[in-house]
Amino acid sequence: MSKVLFEVTEDNLETGMRGYPVGYCTTSHVDPQKGLFYVGKPISEMKDAMPMDIIYLIYHGKEGTPEKVKAFDEDLKKRERVSKEVLEAIYALPKSGHPMDIFCASIQILGMFEGKNDYREDTLNMIAKIPFIAAAVINHHAGWGELKEVDTNLEYMEKFTALLNMPGKDSKVLTELMKLFNILHYDHGGGNLSAFVGKTIASGHQHLYGALSGAMNALAGPKHGRANQDSLEFVKSTLEKVGENAKPEDVEKFMRDLLARKELAYGFGHAVLRVEDARATILYDFASKNFPDHPLVKTAFLLRTEGPKVLSENPKISNPYPNVDAISGTVLTAGGFLNPEYYTILFGISRCIGIAIQIIYERMVAREGKGTPIVRPKYLYKSMN
Ligand code: MLT
Repeated sequence: MSKVLFEVTEDNLETGMRGYPVGYCTTSHVDPQKGLFYVGKPISEMKDAMPMDIIYLIYHGKEGTPEKVKAFDEDLKKRERVSKEVLEAIYALPKSGHPMDIFCASIQILGMFEGKNDYREDTLNMIAKIPFIAAAVINHHAGWGELKEVDTNLEYMEKFTALLNMPGKDSKVLTELMKLFNILHYDHGGGNLSAFVGKTIASGHQHLYGALSGAMNALAGPKHGRANQDSLEFVKSTLEKVGENAKPEDVEKFMRDLLARKELAYGFGHAVLRVEDARATILYDFASKNFPDHPLVKTAFLLRTEGPKVLSENPKISNPYPNVDAISGTVLTAGGFLNPEYYTILFGISRCIGIAIQIIYERMVAREGKGTPIVRPKYLYKSMN
């Protein structure tokens, strides 16, 4: 008899499957009290690592020696060139709608021209090419022109920043921030919406690019990845209301008035976490070190203390603490990335990696290599009359 992990009662229906164990995740897990772990290592221990070290860790399930990481990086560099056909198709896409729409379509286009129908090969190619795809999408949408040649020897996120034709992109602190942002968003356990959607699509044996395009559409929702853009708007509106020299009590009052009007406080709470998101803590530290006097940073810090104070008075709120989105948009703005409509793409470049590696596990490793079956949960019939 196998162990009972979770008993489903009627109260569990229509709850977004909160807490249902569905399978195994080998890349990361989220502890309600301690936050994110990549392959068993807490994110706080990895904040100063290079993106390639962590991508290696997540892909291989163990740390690599400097020689092994270098060889992995060299292999990716050989795969990075995106064909002219793909870039031309991206530049022909309409600019209407949110840039995430273009990003999702571009991943599908990449698969149409360059897909190999092999989850491992496609994952490695995608990791190598995704900074180029994202930079092409952003440059196209922003009217910043086409991709220029960059030095292939650049570090992974330095290369992405170099590919953007964005004004002010050459600041050292912004490049550091882009690396950190990338590191923090690769994965967040097996059950976050985009990972679950990607694996669900792949369970029907759709190819990797189709699964990732769907996963990125899931990420594009304001309750998931687009929360970084929406939370920045919240910090901006708080600053507008309380002013640059606000005191904690001004922000406390702002929060109380907001909740009395039944409006939403963005950037707080999480489905799994019950403390401040460890990723947020790392970004708060980065912001206080690099931009302590930026008005939005000062406001975000006041929200960090006053928000939980007010939200925790409501017994129905199980987690009143800031999540990563509470600060990520603010710190990107303070760092000089002044186009919030692209923040979810920055999240997406990173998250595609974790999802793709989770898909490899489910399709090629799980159940002694047979893979998990097609996702097919049960719904109970209910009459509306
Ligand atoms: C994420 O990074 O995916 C978000 O925090 C949402 C989640 O974990 O469910």
